[in-house]
Amino acid sequence: MKKKILVTGGTGYIGSHTVVELQVAGYEVIIVDNLSNSIREVIDGIEKISGIRPAFYEVDCNDKPSLQNIFIEHRGIKGIIHFAASKAVGESVHKPLEYYRNNIVTLLNLLELMPEYNVEGIVFSSSCTVYGQPDILPVTEDAPIKPALSPYGNTKQINEEIIRDTIHAGLPFKSIILRYFNPIGAHPSAEIGELPNGVPQNLVPFVTQTAMGIRQELSVFGDDYDTPDGSCIRDYINVVDLAKAHVISIDRMLENKSDDKLEIFNLGTGRGVSVLELINAFEKSTGVKVPYKIVGRREGDIEKVWANPEYANKILGWTAKETVEETLVTAWNWQKRLRERGIQ
Ligand code: UD1
Repeated sequence: MKKKILVTGGTGYIGSHTVVELQVAGYEVIIVDNLSNSIREVIDGIEKISGIRPAFYEVDCNDKPSLQNIFIEHRGIKGIIHFAASKAVGESVHKPLEYYRNNIVTLLNLLELMPEYNVEGIVFSSSCTVYGQPDILPVTEDAPIKPALSPYGNTKQINEEIIRDTIHAGLPFKSIILRYFNPIGAHPSAEIGELPNGVPQNLVPFVTQTAMGIRQELSVFGDDYDTPDGSCIRDYINVVDLAKAHVISIDRMLENKSDDKLEIFNLGTGRGVSVLELINAFEKSTGVKVPYKIVGRREGDIEKVWANPEYANKILGWTAKETVEETLVTAWNWQKRLRERGIQ
């Protein structure tokens, strides 16, 4: 019988790509998502790729009784991947309570339900934001956690602490915390991808929308940083590569491959790419121009951060395979598909 995995936020960007990879690997997936930042049609995209329609519940993970009903209806859920969260850094500054409720109460509900339903492990979506501006690059998992610059960033830190304390207290499950660097791109089939709500805050959707003519020009936030070309540096990782690391993490917990009840991994490529290099790579690999202008720095931006992914490479046997150039082509193909479908 297929092992059942509950994926919260499973119609979202990283969630949907992970659902596909789980299904391909032979897991039965149950999605719970409140559709606050995604649409129901994502399920069709998932089904087109994998040939399997996952069970779907339009439920907010803050609603514990409804969440509990899912565990009752699908007895034997073995693992959880918890993506469901609000993720707009700027918005979190203005709506801190909404962010603390959405991002923290949801985790508490899941952790409380896990022992009741004998769930063996939870993978948690964390972020390189916990490192702030690291003193040493590339950043390893034992780099110090820096004070968060936004309520969003703080929720990731607090959630990591909640998981650590819960495991330390001896609750009967395991956890793997995955600290993502900057996920970009879309599934190569262009059936699923990133669907930003309104004006994109993240770089790549803004680039593809500008290339499509939806936005007039891209603003590059600062060219006076202490980097070779003056623009900020990030570690952009292909979303399908990222999704695969979740399947490996689930396998690892459910097959007891590690004695550690809590493990933390950086998921990045190990390669730092500047904003200007990324624009250039997009233009080269797609042949489409992206009009841009340099503007002032964005408040709260980190100057440069990229991963040391060696620990994940060695322990998980996982490596990011796709190049930024190949990945930007998938992001562009997805943007073109959205246009064909009249969505964006
Ligand atoms: C941000 C968060 C990160 C979070 C992620 C979730 C910060 C410091 N980091 O990542 O914690 O997990 O969002 O979505 O807020 N840029 C432009 N023009 C644009 C958009 C972005 O120049 O229109 C630049 C930014 O200044 C940055 C880079 O592109 O240097 C990447 O930005 P973005 O995609 O927003 O990701 P992060 O800021 O790294």
